[in-house]
Amino acid sequence: MNKNTAVFESEEFREMLSAARDMNEPPQQDGSLRQAWFINRARELVSEKEQELGRKLTSCVVTFGCQMNERDSEKLRGILKLAGYEESETEDADFVLYNTCTVRENANVRVYGRLGSLSAQRRKNPGMIIALCGCMMQEKDVVERIRTDYRYVRLVFGTHNLHRFAELLVASLMSESPVIDVVDKDDSIVENLPAERTYSFKSGVNIMFGCNNFCSYCIVPYVRGREKSREPKEIVREIEQLADDGVVEVMLLGQNVNSYGKGLENPMSFAGLLQEIEKIDKIQRIRFMTSHPKDLSDDLIEVMAHSKKICRHLHLPVQSGSSRLLKIMNRHYTKESYLDLVDRLRKAMPDLSLTTDIIVGFPGETEEDFLETMDIVRRVEYDSAFTFIYSRRTGTPAASMEDQVSEEVIRDRFDRLLKEVQRLGRQKSSRFEGQVMPVLVEERNRQLVDHMTGRTAHNLVVHFPGDDDLIGRIVDVRLNEARGFYYMGERV
Ligand code: SAH
Ligand code: SF4
Ligand code: F3S
Repeated sequence: MNKNTAVFESEEFREMLSAARDMNEPPQQDGSLRQAWFINRARELVSEKEQELGRKLTSCVVTFGCQMNERDSEKLRGILKLAGYEESETEDADFVLYNTCTVRENANVRVYGRLGSLSAQRRKNPGMIIALCGCMMQEKDVVERIRTDYRYVRLVFGTHNLHRFAELLVASLMSESPVIDVVDKDDSIVENLPAERTYSFKSGVNIMFGCNNFCSYCIVPYVRGREKSREPKEIVREIEQLADDGVVEVMLLGQNVNSYGKGLENPMSFAGLLQEIEKIDKIQRIRFMTSHPKDLSDDLIEVMAHSKKICRHLHLPVQSGSSRLLKIMNRHYTKESYLDLVDRLRKAMPDLSLTTDIIVGFPGETEEDFLETMDIVRRVEYDSAFTFIYSRRTGTPAASMEDQVSEEVIRDRFDRLLKEVQRLGRQKSSRFEGQVMPVLVEERNRQLVDHMTGRTAHNLVVHFPGDDDLIGRIVDVRLNEARGFYYMGERV
């Protein structure tokens, strides 16, 4: 894996760090200048500890959940690094932070399991700080359980105050007792914070936060709050800086990117934002996720079809093929309108790759409903699909619905669906066999010696002979042989 270990901070933030160096001056009320002050303060505290121990301090951030969390973790790592921590690959570190997810129950179970094993680690290193943040922490019963059963956790914060991490870090470094700071709402967007990017050549970019859709099974709107879009000029500025720093591919992130811009003072559509980003010279590929089918506009199809940079791949979660269930899920589209949308997309872009998310076992799902899902999967021909077993999330409308489907029935349907999406996906994703395509080279292949791994614009993985110096470059590769979900190829 090609890891870029340098922290990426903007020129502005660098200036803030030096402007906020005087610890005798109080920190600013809010914003990034305030965080810069706390980063400097954390650096002092870390360096005192280092002198005491006679060694460097280390930190480790572990991410659960989606690409939003991945991106948040890059920001958390950036701050830890500026505070003086060295990054550790393992959780045998002085500061261990779990950035958690709660979209399905198994995500929570994994966090509790790993927290248990961390406690042994802590016995070896009593100065160790164990910290938790992210979506799970926005749930009151989780925080209560941490308070009572996991008393060795020293810092807890949620999704709304992640931009105040530097400040919370200082609080935990100075306090003997746990620091727990979870707020229900915070409308501020703090721009310009640094990030430690995982890849040098591609980066996620938040374009909006939160979600307003309240799909009846989903916890995200409760733990991430209401939708808010970043100003287009801030997004463009961030991407320009990333491009100057070597990034060629950006992934625009939001729970529902198609409703981007609605609450802005000067509203701008997602299609409009894409056109602005397209103008940034050094950016060669633009991706985005996630697209809610109900808000996907004809303008967007038009912009995508004419774009030289927007990748021909759309992640378009369908959730179910049953119009009856889609209504109860509060998705605001039907099987027919979804299929119609797919038709329009394919007419405009015949080679488009489509991927999706599907939930099996939503309350009240009958065999007929399930067969509708099987049918839509066959008709759309996805390149791949993420299939999930419905998970009951306390507080969502679906959790209190009657007719929860039995585990046995769900298992059987899940297995049938998985088989079908895999069979169809294999078929569909092999459609480019024999063609030459531009591939962004991402990393050295871990199994095949002398091979590199990259992705086509359609998001298909290709392995081909090559050297490390190709990493981050877009090169032409012939897709010689389709092997299930990936290709074996050669450079031309
Ligand atoms: N905003 C994105 C999805 C974010 S959550 C969208 O609307 O498409 C990612 C996926 O997790 C969802 O698409 C859904 O398929 C799945 N998911 C969400 N809540 C779930 C639940 N309670 N049980 C099972 N899967 C769920
Ligand atoms: Fe959840 Fe629906 Fe929002 Fe996606 S759009 S995050 S599934 S509520
Ligand atoms: Fe999970 Fe939060 Fe993402 S609940 S899926 S990490 S928005």
